[in-house]
Amino acid sequence: MSKTNKGLLDQAWSMTTESQLWRSIFRHGYPDTPLNQSLVMMGNVFLHLHPVKVSRKAMKITYTWCLGGLSFFLFLVLTITGVFLMFYFVPEQTVAYANIQQITSAVAFGNIVRNMHRWAAHLMVVTVTLHMIRVFYHGAYKPPREFNWVVGVILFLVTLLLSFTGYLLPWDQIGYWAITVGSNMASYAPIFGAQVHNFLTGQPVGVGQPTLVRFYTLHVIGLPLVGAIMMAVHFWRIRKDGGEAGPPPPSRRELEAARAESQNVPVSALN
Ligand code: HEM
Repeated sequence: MSKTNKGLLDQAWSMTTESQLWRSIFRHGYPDTPLNQSLVMMGNVFLHLHPVKVSRKAMKITYTWCLGGLSFFLFLVLTITGVFLMFYFVPEQTVAYANIQQITSAVAFGNIVRNMHRWAAHLMVVTVTLHMIRVFYHGAYKPPREFNWVVGVILFLVTLLLSFTGYLLPWDQIGYWAITVGSNMASYAPIFGAQVHNFLTGQPVGVGQPTLVRFYTLHVIGLPLVGAIMMAVHFWRIRKDGGEAGPPPPSRRELEAARAESQNVPVSALN
């Protein structure tokens, strides 16, 4: 590049970065000092979701396997594909089954979107369960993260309930009888069994039109709303708790062994 071109580019760059428009969006200069790095993180709506400092080890993909992130990604896929399905699905017992058949055979891209929704739903149950196991295995439920563990348990229940309520909507034999069995099981719960059953099915015996409407409403509004709010709390809490827990700091023995190794002392001499 010639000298004049470079000079012009530099001039254009400084004119842009010094303009009022640029400064109203990017309020801090290049983040090359710890203070500026913190200010940039806190002043940006997207970056502020992350803690200013994170443990390098906890950032390794093999530490979290991105299972929480994958669960969130699947939740987004389910929301988008679910809205598409809502255009064609009516929760009415005489048409629900036919609607699903039409989606998979007559609607443009209907089959792929329906299958994306089904597969993402199954996968989300798997990723959320594995994420929970990963958190437990790392002991990341311990203080100060115990509240986030409780939020996580709510998210786990919401995920299972979304799966359960969605199962009835195609109004096919497998869904109908699965929910009949599931809601009958609820009626055997002590004390509130009958009430829980009636709340779920909307009628004293069996599964019918009121059940379909209830499950539909819970599936498309109630549970996703609770899930989205709880996810916001979950992410905010991760940030407030200082990011990922990360592996525990090395024990005194490990530190001594490392020091001895650097000084060429045989490890056996430490015992
Ligand atoms: C919809 C379900 C969920 C989503 C979208 C979600 C999302 C996330 C994400 C993105 C992270 C940070 C990165 C990672 O660990 O992968 C995280 C961390 C965490 N999650 Fe979840 N999560 C969900 C369910 C759960 C469940 C079921 C539990 C436990 C019962 C849980 C407990 C935690 C805890 C304690 C942390 C902090 C872990 C640490 O500091 O190492 N989450 N979650």
